[in-house]
Amino acid sequence: MTPAPFPAARMRRLRRTRALREMVQEHRLSAADLIWPVFIRDGQGITEPIPSLPGVNRLSLDRLLPAAEQAHALGIPAICLFPYTDQSLRTETCEEAWNPENLTNRAIRALKAEFPDLMVMTDIALDPYNANGHDGFVIDGEIVNDETVAALVKMGLAQAEAGADILGPSDMMDGRIGALRMALEAQGHRDVAILSYAAKFASGFYGPFRDAVGASGRLVGDKATYQINPANAAEALACVARDLAEGADMVMVKPGMPYLDICRAVKDRFERPTFAYQVSGEYAMIMAAVQNGWLNEEKVMLESLMAFKRAGCDGVLSYFAPKVAAALKG
Ligand code: PBG
Repeated sequence: MTPAPFPAARMRRLRRTRALREMVQEHRLSAADLIWPVFIRDGQGITEPIPSLPGVNRLSLDRLLPAAEQAHALGIPAICLFPYTDQSLRTETCEEAWNPENLTNRAIRALKAEFPDLMVMTDIALDPYNANGHDGFVIDGEIVNDETVAALVKMGLAQAEAGADILGPSDMMDGRIGALRMALEAQGHRDVAILSYAAKFASGFYGPFRDAVGASGRLVGDKATYQINPANAAEALACVARDLAEGADMVMVKPGMPYLDICRAVKDRFERPTFAYQVSGEYAMIMAAVQNGWLNEEKVMLESLMAFKRAGCDGVLSYFAPKVAAALKG
């Protein structure tokens, strides 16, 4: 609908006071929209800064619990666990990924025992456990699909067994959602949700994350044979359609800000719960400018997340989550 011509329409009439602006605000960001990605590590009493992610730390489990409690108290409904696996446990066969006693599975149990209402999400991919930093097994230089899917199913089942509420396959192997869904049903895990990293692009914005999980130095080559070419939108939509058909309950677009067009298209086309991941590089860019005094942290953090709401997302994974929730409360 086109507004009347000037001066019948003056767009500034509804911008005049704060109350008017709030009355006509189209989108709102709330703590309930946030999933907080957290890096965990072994040890006791450890809060270890990650240089390329200012303000983000690797936490030992005793430090994770109070942090999770605080996030939950701020209204954040879910946290997503990413393990920094001890370098000695990384092998080419990745068995640590489905060890029921691995760091992630111990963290899930500890969190669910203390805060049963806080949703715990996990990541399913082999990279934190792989000697070569890839999300799948590497055999003769090739990232093999079907063998990897079988391992990912074991990994997901171990997480479900430990009590995870939401599984997040981030590996981009073909067929993993269907295989995981069937295995969950067969093992009686009927209510475990899958949030598929469905439209995951082969992005340069994951750099600081790979530092955080200790995979940067190990990664041989790149992930272009399994993640989506950043130039492809139709292919991303096909991946979302496929993952929903195989049993994903929710889907994700990743990275976030450079792919807002994909977020909008996914929401419009599928009308299913749609999430974006504001990835490590997006967070790092903002924080680098903030640290230089070039951008206002609170303003830009809130604006960057509002963009996802405007683009149709139901929620966002963001390293800013606790800060955002606190800012919205304050
Ligand atoms: C691993 C995984 C990655 C991220 C989430 N899960 C990195 C990658 O695919 O290399 C990136 C998250 C971020 O950059 O914040 N499968």
